[in-house]
Amino acid sequence: DRTESQMLIIFGASGDLTARKLIPALFHLYCGGYLPENFLILGVSRSEFSDEEFRRKVIFESSYLEGDLKEKGRETGEKFAQKLYYHDLGASYEASYVALARKIESLDEKHQTGNNFIFYLSTPPNIYEVIAKNLSEQGLTHKDKGWKRLIVEKPFGYDLASAKKLNNSLHQYFHEDQIFRIDHYLGKETVQNLLVTRFANSIFEPLWNRNYIQHIEITNAESVGVEKRGGYYDGAGAMRDMFQNHLLQIVSLVVMEPPISAEAESIRNEKVKALKSLRILKDEKSLSENIIRGQYLAAEIDGKKVKGYREEDGVNPDSTTETFVAIKFFVDNWRWKDVPFYVRTAKRMPTKVTEVVIHFKPPHHKIFTESGMFNKDNKLIIRIQPDEGILIKFGVKVPGQGFKVERANLDFYYDSLIENNLMAAYERLLLDAMQGDATLYARADEVEAAWEFVDPILQYWSTSKDATIYGYSAGVWGPQNADDLIEGENTWRNPGSN
Ligand code: BG6
Repeated sequence: DRTESQMLIIFGASGDLTARKLIPALFHLYCGGYLPENFLILGVSRSEFSDEEFRRKVIFESSYLEGDLKEKGRETGEKFAQKLYYHDLGASYEASYVALARKIESLDEKHQTGNNFIFYLSTPPNIYEVIAKNLSEQGLTHKDKGWKRLIVEKPFGYDLASAKKLNNSLHQYFHEDQIFRIDHYLGKETVQNLLVTRFANSIFEPLWNRNYIQHIEITNAESVGVEKRGGYYDGAGAMRDMFQNHLLQIVSLVVMEPPISAEAESIRNEKVKALKSLRILKDEKSLSENIIRGQYLAAEIDGKKVKGYREEDGVNPDSTTETFVAIKFFVDNWRWKDVPFYVRTAKRMPTKVTEVVIHFKPPHHKIFTESGMFNKDNKLIIRIQPDEGILIKFGVKVPGQGFKVERANLDFYYDSLIENNLMAAYERLLLDAMQGDATLYARADEVEAAWEFVDPILQYWSTSKDATIYGYSAGVWGPQNADDLIEGENTWRNPGSN
């Protein structure tokens, strides 16, 4: 794949994401030889920095690059730094976009970036439209010379209506094929591998349906609380922060039908279809019975006191924002009829883990009744993170007399495949956008389909007096009644404990 000469213009360059994720990802791409010869990064924000000050902030004095610089050497850092420039947008809008356009044009001419520009929006979402409009007015979005792309960070909308509005306004200035909506979970190797596991093997897909699968469980747990992001998080909650985007992306890859090819549009068409087939929980009864939301309470973890959610900085002391959500739902299509899906995401869990668990039905006719094994299902566990890999649990004969059956593991670890670390999500995604590949980016209709599912839940929580929120002590697997969601004798698989 060819990565053409280009300039990456980052709006919100003084913010956390630029220093924490974007610059390290670009540095790794640089060191790996993935960046084209003619390549520039132009940081844009309202803070005042010279080019040198910006380079110091995000490279030489950044804690996020410290280790890398030690490993690769200061000289490599210096060479990379030569690709970084900065533009202060200042206070007066119109005038500063004129100046920005001049700067971009002169850098482009000097460094021969071919008039190919990626605009990366890492600002508060309420100014996405203003930026797009100004870029367009300055003639920076015209495709007559070179290509122009727009990368948009999450959150993409606050609800269905605002997501639609944002899509409509961006579409005034950019065509859909120029817009790259980022969801960093799609940049994860193991999330992409869901496609490969399913569609590059013949041993899983024939079983991947209601005939053989009993239920599907997806867990996303974080051990951290809201950290320094209380202000943002309190207006979002687990549903908007994680479920609407990352979790529904995973769901769509598990649910989707085989695409006709690995082309971006084939895959995205199937993902949209998958999201549209989720049965929307909309009446009061199904909303109250199929969703458990919770909020973490103060507790002591490993001898250390941790704050409850309502005591966190930036959080309203009476907040009813959820830090835990578990949902049971069905998928209304031929493949998945009557198969329950259980999905949960939360902060302040005992550990950080994301996994998909496919529970298979037991054999129709059980002949080995000597041990308890026949009650246990076969499981396929896709470990998204950490310990990236795939685990299959199946029955084997216990050596010796009779036919005792025990459970054994077939366990694949990703790190057996690679010498260094897995490519970080942002590296993969940035490189894809630089090459114009939108496969791992969310399309407008995909984002809206995800909001269609989430919107009634948010509305129910904000309007119904009966929508309970349960407390759970920081460091446990959420409110106890989340277990009651799961049909029959099953419980959640709490990684590390069962
Ligand atoms: C972000 C959320 O999108 O994903 C954070 O805003 C969350 O709240 C993070 O912590 C989790 O990402 P990862 O890659 O660590 O699982």
